[in-house]
Amino acid sequence: MKRVGILTSGGDCQGLNAAIRGVAKGLYEYYGKDVEIYGIQDGYRGLIRGEYKLMQRSDFSGILTLGGTILGTSRQPFKMMRQIEEDNVDKVRNMKDHYKKMKLDCLVVLGGNGTHKTANLLSEEGLNVVSMPKTIDNDVWGTDMTFGFTSAAEIATNVIDCIHTTATSHGRIFIVEVMGHKVGWLTLEAGIAGGADVILLPEIPYDADKIAKVIRRRNEYGSCFSILAVAEGAISKQEAAMGKKEFKAARANMQFPSISYRLAHELGDRLSQEIRVVVPGHFQRGGSPCPYDRVLSTRFGTAAAKLIINKNYGNMVALQKGEIVPVPLKDVAGKLKAVPVDCSKIQAARDIGISFGD
Ligand code: F6P
Repeated sequence: MKRVGILTSGGDCQGLNAAIRGVAKGLYEYYGKDVEIYGIQDGYRGLIRGEYKLMQRSDFSGILTLGGTILGTSRQPFKMMRQIEEDNVDKVRNMKDHYKKMKLDCLVVLGGNGTHKTANLLSEEGLNVVSMPKTIDNDVWGTDMTFGFTSAAEIATNVIDCIHTTATSHGRIFIVEVMGHKVGWLTLEAGIAGGADVILLPEIPYDADKIAKVIRRRNEYGSCFSILAVAEGAISKQEAAMGKKEFKAARANMQFPSISYRLAHELGDRLSQEIRVVVPGHFQRGGSPCPYDRVLSTRFGTAAAKLIINKNYGNMVALQKGEIVPVPLKDVAGKLKAVPVDCSKIQAARDIGISFGD
């Protein structure tokens, strides 16, 4: 009997259930009745606490199009994994013990960057681990694409599309804040797809004077409105020049709920036009996965099942140049895939006059 545990960890995204279904169906197809799949509740927290259940085949039916995760999820910071806190729980020991208790041959982990650090830790501790890259941020190193990203990009693009009509009617400046954590993949995609006039990414620090100049020029050319797609992680040129500690302190003292509101204030000092801020937030992570993500999740899921069948543990399944390949967890853990500032997408955007505020 083959025994496989599955958990989803970190922020949810579209396509998690499709990926869970992919790996489960791939295993059932190969092993028939000779496989047991354990669903671990709420990510690593369930593995630490021993909250899991034996899943039935039927649990994996009808979930392809379902958003969120049927297993639940939670954020368990990697830096705390080896720390014994007030509850006196040795988290790593507990996770290993529960893995043994379930008699698992492999643990399948679906997650983003933080999740992969812990996946690698467990692999180094001797557990058989296989992982899949999920996140709307698309910032997992080693894969060209994470599932969730394309669905979120569609939603963010829709937001910008809708904002266009009201921005035009009122002749206003709109700042649309796009998720993406410390990278700008989602903002770049939605910004280009939605026809934003200015795109601000964490990878390209901005200068508020330059943005104001771009908006003034648009007005001179007869465009009465401007749309700015701003990554939640965007930073100014002054901030980029700060050390890590100084930056943290400056952000802790920031008087605004997020970067978009601060930018609205900065532009308000420079321009007389009305400015509005739109923050779609977690809306971008919700709902059904788009067809691309359903297919990618299914491909990742079945590739993960194959790694388990072939006992090729210690790997993440990744998309590279259109093919699904294994990438060692130790190579993935602790790295961030940021947008290369000289990539052709940014160049194409610049070529049609989109400003990056630099
Ligand atoms: O990592 C996915 C993500 O949605 C980021 O884009 C965002 O910064 C973060 O999660 C939000 O985290 P939470 O769901 O914990 O508020």
